[in-house]
Amino acid sequence: MKSKILRMLKERQTYVSGEELSAQLGVTRAAVWKAIGKLREEGYEIDSATNRGYRLVSCPRDRMTRETLLDAATYDGSMWKEIYYAKQLDSTNLEAKRVLLEGRGAEPGAVVCEQQFSGRGRRGRGWVSPLGAGLWMTLVLRPNLEPMKASMLTLVAGLAVSRAVEELYEIPATIKWPNDIVVHGKKLCGILTEMTTEEMRMTGIVVGIGVNTGITDFGEELREKATSLALEVAKPDEVDRLMVFRAVLRQFQSCYEQFMQTKDLSLLIDDYNARCITVGHRVRVEEGASAFEAWAQAVDAQGELLVRLEDGTSRTVCAGEVSV
Ligand code: BTN
Repeated sequence: MKSKILRMLKERQTYVSGEELSAQLGVTRAAVWKAIGKLREEGYEIDSATNRGYRLVSCPRDRMTRETLLDAATYDGSMWKEIYYAKQLDSTNLEAKRVLLEGRGAEPGAVVCEQQFSGRGRRGRGWVSPLGAGLWMTLVLRPNLEPMKASMLTLVAGLAVSRAVEELYEIPATIKWPNDIVVHGKKLCGILTEMTTEEMRMTGIVVGIGVNTGITDFGEELREKATSLALEVAKPDEVDRLMVFRAVLRQFQSCYEQFMQTKDLSLLIDDYNARCITVGHRVRVEEGASAFEAWAQAVDAQGELLVRLEDGTSRTVCAGEVSV
């Protein structure tokens, strides 16, 4: 009911009477009044005037609740059906997998939390996820897609985050293949895509996205490697996780819809390559126990990195760790 009231107040942009709200929603005026009270507690500034009703003055900034997140996920043509919010989780990826396995809620959806105590990174690493200092989110998807193609969604998400950050802030958000978002040489965001399977069948895909928004001290180990929006933008006070969340969802939807048309990256790859800092550089590719150096030439529509070796031959790299 709170979201419906919010939507009506937003659409109208002026006073809406308690009588009209209660009639439209089929609830008592006392119930409307109670819901308005709850919205105010969540940080919505709602003016009330005798004989006129309620008017939405402002929405909370950077204040994550299921309500504010749902609101951010609601835009014209939005595909997002469910938002799961918790203050603390082991990992949003783990929670997203539980959601899929238990058949809880609807897809596509997103799991978001304020703090992860067991944040997961690539290659079995952890992911530092302090309270309130990042957007720790996982997209919950059940696409009609061959399991082999699931990893391409990582690149789709990378492109979406790069576009989202550049849309909101005047900073260059480049991509380090396959999926790190890098600002001025330091990592701003990491992405971890995982699959859920049942009896060898892929039942869903979770795309975990961790954007460092408010971290200002990464500690000795990460200081030279990691960054955050608060450290990069001109006005750190204005960094707003809800805005970032909304922009990421919108950009992801747009990229995802194009991806699903062809089930590869052909409609996205030009923009991806234009943002990719790996391309045009000499890279070191570590594959299991072996490593080699090569020139990165481009990323292809399958998401593989095309490299040229010392002897002039070319090959693609599909997994492994690449450093520029
Ligand atoms: C990487 O190693 O670069 C990937 C990091 C992915 C971190 C995000 S934070 C939200 C989601 N939940 C997790 O446990 N991991 C991903």
